[in-house]
Amino acid sequence: MPQTTKSIAVAPVGRKEILSQLARCPSLPSLGSINKALQGLLIVEQRYTAHIAEIIRRDPSLTSRLLRLVNSVYYGLNTPVNSIEEAVFYLGVRQIRQLAMVTPVIEDFQRLTRQCDFPWREFWQHCIGVAILTREVTTSINAQSDDADYVAGLVHDVGKIVMAWTFPDHFTEIHRQGVANPRNLVEVENEVLGIDHAELGALYLERHHLPELMVHSARYHHQPERAAQFPQTIAAVQIADLLLRSEKMGFSGDHREVTRDECFAASGWKILLPDSHESEHNIARASLTRTLEQMPQLLEGLV
Ligand SMILES: [Fe+2]
Ligand SMILES: [Fe+2]
Repeated sequence: MPQTTKSIAVAPVGRKEILSQLARCPSLPSLGSINKALQGLLIVEQRYTAHIAEIIRRDPSLTSRLLRLVNSVYYGLNTPVNSIEEAVFYLGVRQIRQLAMVTPVIEDFQRLTRQCDFPWREFWQHCIGVAILTREVTTSINAQSDDADYVAGLVHDVGKIVMAWTFPDHFTEIHRQGVANPRNLVEVENEVLGIDHAELGALYLERHHLPELMVHSARYHHQPERAAQFPQTIAAVQIADLLLRSEKMGFSGDHREVTRDECFAASGWKILLPDSHESEHNIARASLTRTLEQMPQLLEGLV
């Protein structure tokens, strides 16, 4: 939680000022390389898988994150896992590939956020948790899911990082107000700064020519019904975000409490299961509940 208790005198900022500050915000090189890697992966998935241990070994930061993850998820193992091959065996290729994508993004994000007092570690857990759950929500309704869903989840709240970098005083004041009087974060952001994290994140990703899926995920993750493109993925991001918040896993930056019922009444379900019966909802609910049970250990290992 932010330590600041005194309010900061800040006034909302006009569109021109927002765009000029946004132009100064550094790019996140990892997002561009993820995009390239994703395109490459679709074509050479098999070959990539075969070389995975070799690729990981070249990246010390990824190697240590990977070993930390495997040892925390499988903490019951008699002997700790020390080799990449063993880690790949335990975690499976899909999770390793996701970890490989998330590591440079989180490191880039961390560089942007040093100046604001905020529980960033819990926030990274929120981003990664939403990435993982976005895929799980999609598979819980028997739809196909791929790494693009994971990335859409990972970057959905990038606007908060951009806000902390471009308007640190507004960001701090927004979170001071959130602690004092928890209410809808998007409303508070619009009142205090004149723009919310969803729109700011989308403008930022657009500026850096990132894929439309990322841009739309950032812009519409709180209102997937407004998304003209990729509505299913964005609906899954909305639900994943609400589920993690209702379970209080990680910290999204929004102090308002979310109930389980609110998660299952979210507008995203109407997009994912338009003419469904109660039973389909119950199946999806049961499979998501199982994933959520394992989530705290997974998140501890990742960040
Ligand atoms: Fe958000
Ligand atoms: Fe979020």
